[in-house]
Amino acid sequence: MSNFIQNFFKSPEESVIGIDVGTSSIKVVQLRKKKGRAVLETYGELSLGPYAGLALGQVTNLPADKIAEAIKDVLRESNVTSNSAGVSIPFKSSLVSLIELPPVDPKQLQEMIPLEARKYIPVPISEVTMDWWVVPTEFDHDLDFAQGVDDENNEIKPESRKVQVLVVSIHNDVLSTYSTIVKASALNTSFFEIEMFSSTRALLSGETAPVMIFDLGASSTKIYILERGVVKYSHIINRGSQEITVSISKGLNVPFDRAEHIKRNLGSGSPAEEKDVFEIISLTLDFIFSEANTVTLNYQRKFNKAISKVILTGGGVAMKGVFELARANFQTEVVMGDPFNKVESPAFLEDVLKVTGLEFSTALGLALRKLQELN
Ligand SMILES: Nc1ncnc2c1ncn2[C@@H]1O[C@H](COP(=O)(O)OP(=O)(O)OP(=O)(O)O)[C@@H](O)[C@H]1O
Ligand SMILES: [Mg+2]
Repeated sequence: MSNFIQNFFKSPEESVIGIDVGTSSIKVVQLRKKKGRAVLETYGELSLGPYAGLALGQVTNLPADKIAEAIKDVLRESNVTSNSAGVSIPFKSSLVSLIELPPVDPKQLQEMIPLEARKYIPVPISEVTMDWWVVPTEFDHDLDFAQGVDDENNEIKPESRKVQVLVVSIHNDVLSTYSTIVKASALNTSFFEIEMFSSTRALLSGETAPVMIFDLGASSTKIYILERGVVKYSHIINRGSQEITVSISKGLNVPFDRAEHIKRNLGSGSPAEEKDVFEIISLTLDFIFSEANTVTLNYQRKFNKAISKVILTGGGVAMKGVFELARANFQTEVVMGDPFNKVESPAFLEDVLKVTGLEFSTALGLALRKLQELN
C-alpha cells in the first residue's frame, strides 16, 4: 500500500504508544503529534517481579500470557488511550553485525548479503528472520576505504572499496512469542524493533563523532557505539543493576527487597553506613566498568577513533555514585540521557522526567518511530 493511501485513511492526530518489556519492568509512553511536534500524553512503568512471585526490581523470565497480563495492567494504570503500538525486542534476543562486502551493483548486493550474513549466524538460517540496511557511503566518508586510502595511506582502487551492511537477525521463536504477547494484549502493533535502535533514536541528536550509549538495565548492561547515528559496535555485559542489589543483600545479610530499598536511597543514609555499602557494591560496578573499557579499547583498535561522549541510560544509572564512577572511568564527556527532551511535556513534569527519563529511552524511541509512520 502506498504512503498516500495510508495517510488518507489515518487521522494525523492519532495517539501512538511505545512498549518496552524489560526484564524487571515494562515501560510505556504515549505520544501524539501536534503542529508537527511530538507531545507527551502519558507514560508509566510496572514492575514485573510480582507477576513472578518475586520482589520489585527483581529480574523475571515470564511466559507470554503473564507478560500480556502485565501489559494490559500498565496500559490501564497509565491511562493509555491508544493501542497503536511499536514494541521492542531485547538486544540479547538479536544478532547485529556490521559486515563489509565488495562494491557490486545493488541487485547483486541483495543476493550476496544473506549468503555472507550466514557466516555470522550460529543457527540454521531457516530459524531466523533477517533484515539489513546498506550504510550509505556519505555516512562513511571519513573512513579510510571511502577516502580512498588504506592504513598505510596507499590508494585503494574504487573497485576494491567496500560497502558496509548492518545485518540484524532475530530467532523466529522470539518473534512468535512476541506475536503471541501483542495479540493477547489486544495491541495493534505494526513493528517490533530491537531496543538498541529505539533507545538510540530517543537519545541521539545528530552527533557525528563516535558516541557510546551505556544502558545499565536490571539483568544486563548494553553498550552501543554509533557514528553518524549508525551502530558500529555493540556488546552485552551479562551483569546489571540487580547484581548490585544481590551484593548488598549478601553483604549486609538483608532480604532482596530491603537491599533494593537501600540501593535506591543511597545518599540519604549516614556516610559511614554508605561507605560500607559502596565497598560491597564496588566489585560489581568495577566488573561492569572494566568490561566497558575493554569494549572501548576494542572499538578504538578496530576503527582507530576515540569515543567523544558517553550517554548513560537505564534505571541502574539513577543510583547515586554511578555518574561519578562513569565519568572517572571513561575519561571523556559523560552525560545522563534525557529522552523526554525530544518531546513537548508539561512544565511541571520537567524535573521528574529528567530522572524517570533514564528508564524510558526505549519506550520513547518506539513511540517516536510509530509517530513517524503517520507521516
Ligand atoms: N532510583 C534508583 N536508584 C538505583 N537503582 C535504580 C533506581 N531506579 C531503578 N533502579 C534500578 O534499575 C534497574 C531497572 O532498570 P531498567 O528499568 O532500565 O531495567 P530493565 O529494562 O527492566 O532491565 P533490562 O534492560 O536488563 O532487561 C533495577 O535493577 C532497579 O533496581
Ligand atoms: Mg531495559
